[in-house]
Amino acid sequence: MLKGKKIVLGITGGIAAYKAAELTRALIKEGAQVRVIMTKNATEFISPLTLQTLSNNIVYTEMYLPSEQYDMAHIALAEFADAFVIAPATGNIIGKIASGIADDLLSTTIMAAVKPTLICPAMNDKMLANPIVQENINKLKNYKYIIMESGVGELACKTKGAGRLPEIPEIVEEIERLLTPQNLAGEKILITAGPTEEPLDPVRFITNLSSGKMGYALAKVARRHGAQVTLITGPTNLSLPSVENIIKVRTAQEMHKAVIDNYKKSTVIIKAAAVADYRPKIFVKEKIKKDNKPRAIELERNPDIIAEIGQNKKNIVLVGFAMETKNLLANAREKLKKKNMDLIVANSLREEGAGFQTDTNKITIIDREGDVQSLPVMTKIEAAEKILEKVEELLKKKGGSKK
Ligand code: PMT
Repeated sequence: MLKGKKIVLGITGGIAAYKAAELTRALIKEGAQVRVIMTKNATEFISPLTLQTLSNNIVYTEMYLPSEQYDMAHIALAEFADAFVIAPATGNIIGKIASGIADDLLSTTIMAAVKPTLICPAMNDKMLANPIVQENINKLKNYKYIIMESGVGELACKTKGAGRLPEIPEIVEEIERLLTPQNLAGEKILITAGPTEEPLDPVRFITNLSSGKMGYALAKVARRHGAQVTLITGPTNLSLPSVENIIKVRTAQEMHKAVIDNYKKSTVIIKAAAVADYRPKIFVKEKIKKDNKPRAIELERNPDIIAEIGQNKKNIVLVGFAMETKNLLANAREKLKKKNMDLIVANSLREEGAGFQTDTNKITIIDREGDVQSLPVMTKIEAAEKILEKVEELLKKKGGSKK
């Protein structure tokens, strides 16, 4: 999604400067064009050659060089960028920007910048807690700079505390958000993701193949577009997306409770989770021992969460999924009507690149008016974009979202 976007990355002199190499690599991998400015102190921690090689561009370190080399670098770079990122940002650069000081190429470029600027502080915990640094951070926030929360954990100076550079995928995600139109700002979107597990005894359970990728992609993309996201997730191996509210559940009954407790605040509900329709009727407290007798597991129905919401919803856009192995569209249409959804996203286990666990999906979006949008195989992030485009259209039609 960062394809063709122009990012100016400022690197300042802290031990986390070496992580800027990984950030550059990640941005290039996402298709961005990256120009790097390093302060003199940053070059003590990591070689400009490393950044030059990773960004495929010259690295800017000096304010004054022959014009044919830099072409008024601070102005040219300020105009080139769609977004600026300073990672790591020391207390020094934060203080300089907050005080209107422009005494090197990075601080001068930032002063001339009019595009969104993301600042990722990384320093010793005591430096970060210093009231002057905090005041400077707050000052920058008031001037609409976007400041990422530093990570908490072990710091280079062998202490533990706040001051770590945020994780690289989190920085990349924040840049994505900065560059995405905020057309879902004010919407409160509840998304369910992943499988549920229905325990039989302390070591065994019934589950399905859902990895959570489709639901997590929806959560990420909704947040990128400015929505406030509540993610209710069954057990997955994925790293959690950074959204406002995450509720972890295990069973369908727990997911049911979490959805019922939270859905009334939402303007949109998207149910991408693969919820078990049945659970073992009896949970056996001790591990079931094997014997030679045949065994049967008696099952009972789980609540149909989406059907219950469908019955009670008022002014909410309700989106369900249909995972089928045959009669995809007919079954999807039936679920849409029966469960009173506004939209259903059909995907088939029989189609290459679609369904469980893959990074891609092949979806058909059907609305209540019978409009059918059949899409080719695309990444789950791209599929999420398409679903949310349609959601936005429905919100506009309803006109009365709770924004
Ligand atoms: O997680 P991934 O590996 O990325 O895979 C994605 C996915 C295949 C799980 C996803 O794209 C998908 O299709 N999710 C819905 C799967 C499913 O349970 O489909 P269904 O046809 O059985 O259910 C229809 C709808 O009712 C779904 O929105 C489901 O969340 C909901 N439901 C189902 C049962 C139940 N007891 N309560 C529900 O709310």
